[in-house]
Amino acid sequence: MQSLRAAITAVGHYLPEDRLTNADFEKMVDTNDEWIRTRTGIRERRILKDPTKATSFMAANAAKELLAKRKLDPKEIELVIVATVTPDMFFPATACLVAAEIGATNAWAYDISAACSGFLFALSTGARFIESGKHKKVLVIGADKMSSIVDYTDRTTCVLFGDGAACVLLEPDTQGYGLMDSEEHSDGSQWNSLCMLGGGSLNPPSAVTIEKKWHFLHQEGQPVFKAAVKGMADVAAAIVERNQLTGDDIRYLVPHQANLRIIDATARRMGVGMDKVMLNIERYGNTTAATIPLCLADWEAELRKGDNLILAAFGGGFTWGAAWIRWAYDGTGA
Ligand SMILES: CC(C)(COP(=O)(O)OP(=O)(O)OC[C@H]1O[C@@H](n2cnc3c(N)ncnc32)[C@H](O)[C@@H]1OP(=O)(O)O)[C@@H](O)C(=O)NCCC(=O)NCCS
Repeated sequence: MQSLRAAITAVGHYLPEDRLTNADFEKMVDTNDEWIRTRTGIRERRILKDPTKATSFMAANAAKELLAKRKLDPKEIELVIVATVTPDMFFPATACLVAAEIGATNAWAYDISAACSGFLFALSTGARFIESGKHKKVLVIGADKMSSIVDYTDRTTCVLFGDGAACVLLEPDTQGYGLMDSEEHSDGSQWNSLCMLGGGSLNPPSAVTIEKKWHFLHQEGQPVFKAAVKGMADVAAAIVERNQLTGDDIRYLVPHQANLRIIDATARRMGVGMDKVMLNIERYGNTTAATIPLCLADWEAELRKGDNLILAAFGGGFTWGAAWIRWAYDGTGA
């Protein structure tokens, strides 16, 4: 018997129906389809247009899909972690709203804020509760309604982001599957390259913060790009080298979907071809905490027990990390 590990045993997702295409952006700001595709790899993104619905709505729908697929009683869930930078409100935590909505009345629930690395940080945190033996069913969700904090007059950021949610169920495994290794980092010294200045205790909402547009995401593209290329490639390579994995051992690289060029650099550094990279940035853009589990949802049907996946992300904070997962089941049925 191998040591107790946290295995992903089910996946769920939710994407809003409305699409914002590059052609739509051509009518909104001074941009064009060619620039967006060649600089980012994005063609369209999903947008949650209903103003009465927020991140918890998408997260709960993703969780409901997972529960239905596994025919699970929500009362069996012991912990719900939601990674997000667009919570429904400051408090209570979006995870509490999700747990109530899905009927996970026996679970405790909290949010994790780590921007685009949020899902990886939440996965690592959730895994500890399985590995320690404290819990047997942990729901880890990545969800963001980025359209709520994007300035649709700023061409340098608005084309990048979309809305979505996806989740995984973690359960104990002693057969050698699950989260094998992970590495997480953060460095707050460049916090102002990617941030939302207003609304917190530093700059509480006021007429001034609205006028200065501090309620919108702010990004300095070039410094973030440079740090992301290095951070994501370094940490993914570290996991691979530490575990003596080669490109041949890896079934898929599952990268955070921020920019095709960052993903390409990470894949090259790891020695895996683009045929082994999960890519859906073209269809969804950057959905922040949702990108990695959305990839798992899109590729779930073709994954097989024993497949080695390397997850890697970089985001605001800065935060970055990678994880090696040995997939625990075949296709869509656990
Ligand atoms: C945002 C990003 C795509 C911009 O690409 P880039 O190649 O760095 O482009 P630059 O910022 O150097 O801008 C180049 C030019 O394109 C222009 N431009 C920016 N956005 C544009 C758009 N949507 N359409 C057309 N032109 C645009 C700029 O104004 C600039 O024009 P100038 O040379 O006249 O000043 C890129 O920096 C990036 O992906 N950064 C990291 C994003 C990321 O990973 N974020 C999340 C981390 S999780």
